[in-house]
Amino acid sequence: MPVSVIVGMQWGDEGKGKIVDLLASAYDYIVRFNGGDNAGHTIKVGDKKFGLHLIPSGVFYPEKIKVIGNGVVINPDSLLKEINEVESAGFSLSNLFISDRAHVILSWHKLLDGIEDSKNEIGTTKRGIGPTYCDKAARTTAIRIVDLLDRQKLETRVNKILGLKKSLIKIYSGQDSDLNSAQIINSLFEFGQKIKQRVVNAPYLLNQAVKEKKNILLEGAQGTLLDIDHGTYPYVTSSNTVSGSASSGSGIPPTKINKIFGIIKAYTTRVGGGPFPTELSDEIGEKLRQKGGEFGTTTGRPRRCGWLDMVALKYTAMLNGTTDLVITKIDVLNGFDQLKVCVAYEIDGKKTTEFPSDIDSLASVKPIYKTFKGWIITNDEWEEAKQNKKIPEPCQQYVNFIKRELKAKVAILSYGPGREQTIIF
Ligand code: GDP
Ligand code: IMO
Ligand code: MG
Repeated sequence: MPVSVIVGMQWGDEGKGKIVDLLASAYDYIVRFNGGDNAGHTIKVGDKKFGLHLIPSGVFYPEKIKVIGNGVVINPDSLLKEINEVESAGFSLSNLFISDRAHVILSWHKLLDGIEDSKNEIGTTKRGIGPTYCDKAARTTAIRIVDLLDRQKLETRVNKILGLKKSLIKIYSGQDSDLNSAQIINSLFEFGQKIKQRVVNAPYLLNQAVKEKKNILLEGAQGTLLDIDHGTYPYVTSSNTVSGSASSGSGIPPTKINKIFGIIKAYTTRVGGGPFPTELSDEIGEKLRQKGGEFGTTTGRPRRCGWLDMVALKYTAMLNGTTDLVITKIDVLNGFDQLKVCVAYEIDGKKTTEFPSDIDSLASVKPIYKTFKGWIITNDEWEEAKQNKKIPEPCQQYVNFIKRELKAKVAILSYGPGREQTIIF
């Protein structure tokens, strides 16, 4: 039985949360493997809705085992708040486990992210993600979940790091911070005590599950174009978001992974700064934003909107080795006279289908478009399409084009935020 990965194929917010919830019924374990509470994954069943930031999107299934993997960075306040929200809504989280190797977002990380982001144009979520992964790579200035469980060790560690961070904040902002060592140690230790029953040596738990042929769904955050190595650097997040990172972020080896679901929004969105070749800064872009409700789940910022970009998608399908395509928000494209899909870039007068690594080149791209006929499909027609597993024309042509270009099967088509508004092929 499969170990599957779900990744976003664009710049995030492709609808990963909805698809994880939809598929979760067939899996025993749901595992988050990267990012932190910069992610916002929306799941909606009936009139119940959650915007999850850290807990895997399987909360409607209390019996499933949910794991926050070592690749995730954890903000203690966000995690406790989220656990409380989910449990208060009546969904038990007794099956939520946390890797002892996951790194902790500390108060100085958030402060530094805010200060640094005000000096550049990345437009981060200001959740402290970049500074935390920075310390993870630095090794000597990081705190992991396992460090929270021994008060003596925690004290030594915080006291070693805090002076350095205070000096850094002073240099960056010109101001003294009121970070208090005793307060920080107390609250981190208290957090550790609250979660200690959930803390596990996750690779053993997960590889035992693999051995027992359990079904495991590895849930990615962000999107491939935000990957620290392969994305539109430096306008990216600070972790790897490609399917390969599902392995390093969970401890399940690549040889055990059988399926890679690549989630594609039927058009493109992006939050924050950075090049976006098919961006529409006109009334069509605004129409997409309004119809698609394109406002951030985490920060509430309006998302930038544009046409589908096949150059970018071919690049991300290649990076992820996508086996199963999932197209979401196809309903949002209802009622446009015509739709455009970018099929090549023109850079300095030359045509290319290669996604450039240099952001100045990407920013100078003139997109070359193929035009598709628009459609109007009513809710009843979508229900009928779901029964017959046959997409009405000319929407079918749009979907077929994506499938052909990306050389992978379309496994799921989503035509609304609800779990039931989905055609599974
Ligand atoms: P994620 O970060 O990839 O999980 O995506 P987000 O939750 O940030 O954003 C996707 C938004 O689109 C959420 O509000 C979802 O409820 C919604 N959504 C997901 N699939 C569909 C769909 O097929 N149609 C429509 N109209 N909304 C959808
Ligand atoms: P989900 O999982 C969309 C973007 C931020 C910013 C850049 C760096 O919901 O798809 P960071 O705070 O990570 O240092 O910000 O990355 N970003 C996302 N955009 N969806 C996300 O997650 C994102 N997580 C980070 O807007 O441009
Ligand atoms: Mg999101």
